[in-house]
Amino acid sequence: MNLKDQILKEKLPAHIAVIMDGNGRWAKKKGMMRVIGHEKGTEAVRQTVEASAELGIKHLTLYAFSTENWNRPKLEVQTLMKLLVKSLKKEIKTLQDNNIKLTAIGALNDLPSKAYNELQEVIEKTKDNANMTLTLALSYGSREELVSAVKVLSDKVKNNIISAENIDESIINKHLYTQNLPDVDLLIRTSGEQRISNFLLWQIAYAELYFTDILWPDFTKEDLYTALINYQNRERRFGKTSEQLS
Ligand code: FPP
Repeated sequence: MNLKDQILKEKLPAHIAVIMDGNGRWAKKKGMMRVIGHEKGTEAVRQTVEASAELGIKHLTLYAFSTENWNRPKLEVQTLMKLLVKSLKKEIKTLQDNNIKLTAIGALNDLPSKAYNELQEVIEKTKDNANMTLTLALSYGSREELVSAVKVLSDKVKNNIISAENIDESIINKHLYTQNLPDVDLLIRTSGEQRISNFLLWQIAYAELYFTDILWPDFTKEDLYTALINYQNRERRFGKTSEQLS
């Protein structure tokens, strides 16, 4: 049986998040500039987006640019921003054809205006699409997200909009960039690194973590299927015992 047919429709993760790592190493291995790796990485993005939509995954979140990535060489940052604009222009059709809604999380105001405007345009154009939500994490850092949420919440407490005693997990959730997304079920990181790198720290509390040595530009639909089969063979206990689950 091929890999795709081994995936159980009734056990799909509601939300997959991906740390797309290894573009630079992919290029270096081939004696090419790092930016070529990012360019090739955009093709892997399309593969994963299409495969997820075809399978019926409802939420896919991609770590496209972290708050820490601003510290990379200027040329690389500029190239990544240009690639983002180019991909948004090019892929709007893929999003519409597959009924995919685009959203974004992160300190979006820090993006160059061209990238920010293009992003908002695609978000607006795809806002009624209902097959899958594709979320791009851009200028995203989980700690920054939590700091922003605490600031807003403190202000609300100060102004008697909510009382400190009533703050619970659901209120904190509502103050995160991810307020409209369910918790992450499956977190994938490519390139052999086994780190979270400040990505969705709150949201991955019960996620299954899947690490693969494949470098992001080489990540194919088949590799996503492999990750899903691995996920479906795990037992998610959410703190309970095996016996309680069965
Ligand atoms: C990590 O590889 C990848 C990134 C920092 C950027 C991810 C961006 C893309 C895949 C392309 C643009 C995305 C969209 C959504 C259009 P790395 O550079 O850290 O690789 P390395 O660890 O091998 O150096």
